[in-house]
Amino acid sequence: MRMWVVGTGPGDPKLLTLLAIEVLQRVKVVFAPLMGSESSSRAYQVVQSYLSPHCRVVNLCFNEDFYELSQIVAEEATKYPSEEAAFLVIGDPTLYSSFFRIFSEVEEKAALEIKIIPGISAHQVMSAHLGVPLAQGEEIVSIIPGTASKEQTKILLNNSDTCVIYKAASLLKQKSLYFENFSRGWVGENLSTNCEKIYPLPKRLLHLPYFSLALLKKH
Ligand SMILES: C[S@@+](CC[C@H](N)C(=O)[O-])C[C@H]1O[C@@H](n2cnc3c(N)ncnc32)[C@H](O)[C@@H]1O
Repeated sequence: MRMWVVGTGPGDPKLLTLLAIEVLQRVKVVFAPLMGSESSSRAYQVVQSYLSPHCRVVNLCFNEDFYELSQIVAEEATKYPSEEAAFLVIGDPTLYSSFFRIFSEVEEKAALEIKIIPGISAHQVMSAHLGVPLAQGEEIVSIIPGTASKEQTKILLNNSDTCVIYKAASLLKQKSLYFENFSRGWVGENLSTNCEKIYPLPKRLLHLPYFSLALLKKH
């Protein structure tokens, strides 16, 4: 099976690439991730209008373990070896996507030819909508997950001019203590969707949705 790993961008279908649209119009099956507590796949909603009416949709619930998910993908690939499929990924497939972990399991069970289509990541939308550059000149940018340890977070924050924190919902566990070196900071929720919110990083973070990130700037 030829598997296109399609970066669907952060939520707005207008941010899909032309290559993604071309591929989505002809694939026979899509694997759609259900993230966090989503009841319907955001990535699927982004691409839905481009899919052929005959396209099969296989939901992959990311609360299940990677072994189970790889079994589902491998079964489809074994049943339909000559088909083209799309594995949907929010944002860009190479940034914090579980695709590679699933793929390493699938590879042992079924033959897949992998082609990756890049997508726009959430932090790119955040800096664009703020009108704030991620980096200029010699500035250093770090991209870290809110799930990183306090020690790692502190080191990276100290050594970066700009810091993007993905999986920001997990930041609730960390006090804003480390953010004092930064003169400016914002939280972005559900970027590039109808529910987008961008606001200055509060002193104390309360509940944040799964689709949220923080952008911090030293200067
Ligand atoms: C598993 S990572 C996937 C990142 C994705 N591959 C990308 O390139 O943007 C999920 C995290 O991405 C961030 N994220 C993705 N889409 C977002 C959006 N529309 N608004 C805010 N954050 C988003 C959140 O931090 C979320 O917890």
